[in-house]
Parts: sequence; C-alpha cells; structure tokens
Amino acid sequence: MFLYNHFTVNEKGHLCMDGVDTVDVARQFGTPLYVMSRSYIENTINEYHRIMHENFGDNYTIAYASKALSAKFIYDIMKDLDVCCDVVSGGEIYTALKGGMAANKLHFHGGNKTKREIEYALGVGIGSFVVDNYQEIAIINNAAHNLNIKAKVILRVKPGVDAHTHEFIQTGKEDTKFGFGIKDGKAFEAIDEILRCNNLDFIGIHCHIGSQLLESKPFAMAGEIMADFMAVIREKYGITLPELIMGGGFGVKYTYNDAPESKADMIKVMADAIKASCEKNSFPVPKVTIEPGRSVVAPGGITLYEVGTVKELENIRNYVSVDGGMTDNPRYALYDARYECVIADRAGEKRDYLATIAGKCCESGDLVTKDIYIQKPMAEDILAVFTTGAYNFSMASNYNKTPRPPLVLIENGNPVLKVRGETYEDLIRLEL
Ligand code: LLP
Repeated sequence: MFLYNHFTVNEKGHLCMDGVDTVDVARQFGTPLYVMSRSYIENTINEYHRIMHENFGDNYTIAYASKALSAKFIYDIMKDLDVCCDVVSGGEIYTALKGGMAANKLHFHGGNKTKREIEYALGVGIGSFVVDNYQEIAIINNAAHNLNIKAKVILRVKPGVDAHTHEFIQTGKEDTKFGFGIKDGKAFEAIDEILRCNNLDFIGIHCHIGSQLLESKPFAMAGEIMADFMAVIREKYGITLPELIMGGGFGVKYTYNDAPESKADMIKVMADAIKASCEKNSFPVPKVTIEPGRSVVAPGGITLYEVGTVKELENIRNYVSVDGGMTDNPRYALYDARYECVIADRAGEKRDYLATIAGKCCESGDLVTKDIYIQKPMAEDILAVFTTGAYNFSMASNYNKTPRPPLVLIENGNPVLKVRGETYEDLIRLEL
C-alpha cells in the first residue's frame, strides 16, 4: 500500500509507523516533526551485515555515513550494531563520541579538513583518515609526529566511473573535487608523498562513485577498477594494501516509480568484480568496507506537517501549504527531489487530489515536492512525507528564523523524543 511495509493504516484510518499512530504522535509532539523508526535502521544494518558476510565472510566492515543523519541517538544505535562510522567534520566526530561511538571506529573524510580538525581527530584517537589532497598529507604527518604516533591513512581515488545520478551529487567521476585521479597519475604522486612521511601508515584506498544509485553496474565497474589498482600499487611499490572502501550510494525508493536494484544485487556484483580482479592478479581479497548513509536512514524517516492554506489555481496547480518546508527539507530546492505524501488522518482513502506541497518560507522555490497525488487536504490535517530520514535533519537550516523541528524515534512501539525542537530563544542564543 505504501512505499515501505513499516507503514500501515489503523482502524481510525490513520497512518501508522511501526504500528504507532502518526496523527497521535504529531498531536503529542507538535509539527513539523521528524519521526524515525529504530527497527528500520537496525533491520537495514543487519541486512547489510548478512549480505556483506555472504560475499566476504568476516573480512568486511560496514561504516554508516554520518552525513545522512548525524545526531547522538544514531551513534548510540550504531555502536550496538557492530558498525563503524564515516565522519566528515570535527562536529560529526564530536557528536559521534558524545553518542558513544569509539573513536577508533571512525574514519575521517573531507576534501578540506582543517588543521584544527586534524589535530582534534588525532587527539581523540580517530581510526583513520581518508586522504583527499596533498596539503592534508603533510598536516596529518606533522600532527602525528608531534603526538609521536602513526596515523592510518586511506587514499581517496577517482575511479572515473560515471554513475548517472543528479549532477550535484556525483563524486566519482574525473571532473570532481574529490580524490586523486588514477588516469592522470595524481594518485601515484599522492602515494609517493604518503610513503615519504614517517608518521603515516598507508592502509588502503577508497572511492565513492555517487549517491542514490539505482543500478548495480557502476558498482561492478568501480570494484574492478579499484581492485586492479591495488594490484598496480603492489607491483609499483611492493605494498599489499589490506583495505578497500567502496563508498555508499545504494539508492532508495522515493516515489512509486523508483526501482532501485536490491542491496544484495548491488553488493554481489561489486563483490564478484573485486574477487575476480583479485583472482586475476593473485591478490589477496582485501577487507572491504561499504559506507551506506541514505539507505540506512531515509526510508526509516517521515516528516509530519500540519496543513495550512490551500490555494487552488485553476488549470495551473493546487498549492498545499505546510508549517515547514525548505528549512527542514531543502532537497527539492537543491536537487528537484520528489517525495510521496499522504494525509495521515485519512491515509486509507484514495489519493486523487493533485497537490504541490509548499513550505512557509518567503521563497518561491520553497516546495517540499511537486505534483503528487494525496487525499483531498483540509486545514489542520497532518501531512506525512515519506523517506525523509536522510539528508533532511542533517541539512536543515534556520532560514527566515525558522526553528528546526524536534525528532522522535519510534522504539519498542513508543515515540521517544531524541532531539527537542528549537525555541525562539535558541534562535538567538549565539547572538551577542
Ligand atoms: N561515502 C562518501 C565518501 C560520501 O561522499 C557519501 C555521500 C556517502 C558515503 C554516503 O552516500 P549514500 O549512501 O548516502 O548515498 N545531500 C545529498 C547527498 C549527498 C551525498 C554525499 N556523499 C542528498 O540529499 O541527496
């Protein structure tokens, strides 16, 4: 009936998530409201464990990509699921540690890590750095030297795979600000540099070919290129690297028309390509890490809004305004993103009203999604937007001095407040 089967309709006709009435949750905590399912997140991580184990035995790691949703509660969940985390800023490291993650289970990404962030990361005992530019190689080495330690580094390379996704979220092609090229020889120069550094321990290579990928083929291409490159590194430097990180990017269903290949299929073709390359090159299969973000949290989250004004522009469009918008979900404004929605109060009824969901900012691009069918809305109805668990909370802003919404986690059949909503006082707390 809905995109995912943790959504059902109860006897009142209300939308339920993990059996909990979302209209009740909206009334209890107010709107707008992010609601997440703990069991969806746990089940998805466990599914990744099963799939990775089937393909790689025990020689694998799952690293949740924090940028999809970084908050203490998520690390608290992750720490019990035998996963590591990818972090991309000092702020994510801080939050992960406060959430109970062990520092040595974090690997630190970023195209322009500051000296301060690098020193902070080393100081807390970060697991490893994914190195993305020449400058940071020197900075990490110096900082590690000052602490008299060796920092583990993984080199981010560009496999040059074009993974057909929205242009703004492609990161694995040659024309990208991320990583060192294989084809142009930059990756070798970076390796030369790393090997000259006494306080760096070169342990592996990394790629991330894009986000919201719906097909398995690019994963196979990238798997082969990366594993072949490990054999080339062995040939050129005599080093057998033990680790290969293949990034995230496993796509999810945002609309009824989206048809991503299954996680199992995507990972299997990637694993087969890696293993085939290793066999061809007589290279031991490295420890393979994946970094899923969106697929772990997006379907496990919804946003609940209250419907306000409805503007029916004859022969043009029906604008249904809600009490949030681009401040809690900037993805339509940034990427033209699409979502499915329902009126949570009448979720079992037919969706036959064509609506464009508008936010409340003074900005015409402030839409949540465009031209979707929902039940005929009435003022004060609760509108539920599906698949908002990733890159919504983490990308929210205070534009128009809008307080960011609270976040509630459904666990053991109960809604539990994990992040309180901002107050007006919060909005000026940093102002002197
Ligand atoms: N690893 C690396 C190095 C990444 O850059 C990313 C995402 C991931 C893993 C996780 O990818 P995922 O499994 O979530 O697709 N704000 C955009 C998405 C940006 C993704 C950036 N990198 C959006 O809202 O669609």
